Amino acid sequence: METKLFKAYEVTKAAELIRQGELIAFPTETVYGLGANALDEQAVKQVYTVKGRPSDNPLIVHVSDFEMVTHYVSDFPKHTKALVDAFWPGPLTLIFDVKPNTFSTTVTGGLNTVAFRMPNNLKTIELIKKANVPLVGPSANTSGKPSPTTAEHVYHDLHGKIAGILDDGPTQIGVESTVLDLTTENEVPVILRPGAITKEQLEHVVGKVTVDQHLISEKEAPKAPGMKYKHYSPDVPVWIVDGDKDVFDKAIHWAKSKNQRIGLFASERLTSAFSTDVTATFSFGEDSVEQGTKFLFAGLRSLDEQNIDVIFAQAFPEAKLGIAYMNRLKKAANQNILKIDSIFE
Ligand code: TXA
Ligand code: MG
Repeated sequence: METKLFKAYEVTKAAELIRQGELIAFPTETVYGLGANALDEQAVKQVYTVKGRPSDNPLIVHVSDFEMVTHYVSDFPKHTKALVDAFWPGPLTLIFDVKPNTFSTTVTGGLNTVAFRMPNNLKTIELIKKANVPLVGPSANTSGKPSPTTAEHVYHDLHGKIAGILDDGPTQIGVESTVLDLTTENEVPVILRPGAITKEQLEHVVGKVTVDQHLISEKEAPKAPGMKYKHYSPDVPVWIVDGDKDVFDKAIHWAKSKNQRIGLFASERLTSAFSTDVTATFSFGEDSVEQGTKFLFAGLRSLDEQNIDVIFAQAFPEAKLGIAYMNRLKKAANQNILKIDSIFE
């Protein structure tokens, strides 16, 4: 199959293909999604096949407005309206109890719940409206690889396997949406996956919010099935460098003494300081967690294609957006962290 790159003005063609049961990748503010008609079981099955995704990992249903959700959910938990008003369209996925006989178990992974999100991208909203059906939309990468933040990333992973990609340039945020479970018995919402909408922002709107234990301990079974899979991993091993120039300096010397070719993912301040000591650099520019997050997956993908043995990546404090950044980076690094007091032998 030839994968067509649709320019942003070709939404109508893309929507027709969705209605015919084809797969079209779409832009969002977080990462690119792999779109299919959520009501077409064959199309949804094809999504799992082309991604190589485990079938017990449920999908997020993307809608063009809140009204679309009301067809598939009968009882809305008490914080729903406040959250939708505050954060939709935007990087917040909400989990509700699903109305029976609406979505197939292929969408829900056999759970009694379903995840919804209204993405903040005008072209994708137009795509959903024109297709006039809700779209499933897992990140449009091969399962296990870093999520795609450009149409080129999608093409790299899925060309030949999907009908098209709706290109709207690089995404703004760079990591997937915050997933919030509203179906808890005590009515306290639980964050199942950290994203750009932070715990503080949510608490400002609804009062108390908790974080799924799995995100903290890594021991208990995760409630969002997707969190248990190895994710976001380049083939080259990744190490997180938790510290400033002195720690990078030690890490680089240690790797060089082992004849390792090094790739560096860090701000301009750090990549420029070490450019002559390493084989490849990917700078995300200004030294801020927003910039780091925006380019994290693009940086890992780019370095992975160079001839290197190890990637050193900059850490950020685990607060606000830093929680989402470090959550994805730790998965990519398999929890490997270098600190100033680590021993480099
Ligand atoms: O930003 C995003 O959310 C992107 C863009 C494309 O919208 N989509 C995305 O989808 O990240 P995906 O399929 O890669 O991740 C969906 C996550 C998984 O961790 C999955 O386990 C969880 O949401 N999830 C989906 N439905 C669920 C449910 N009913 N209960 C618990 N977790 C659910
Ligand atoms: Mg994903």
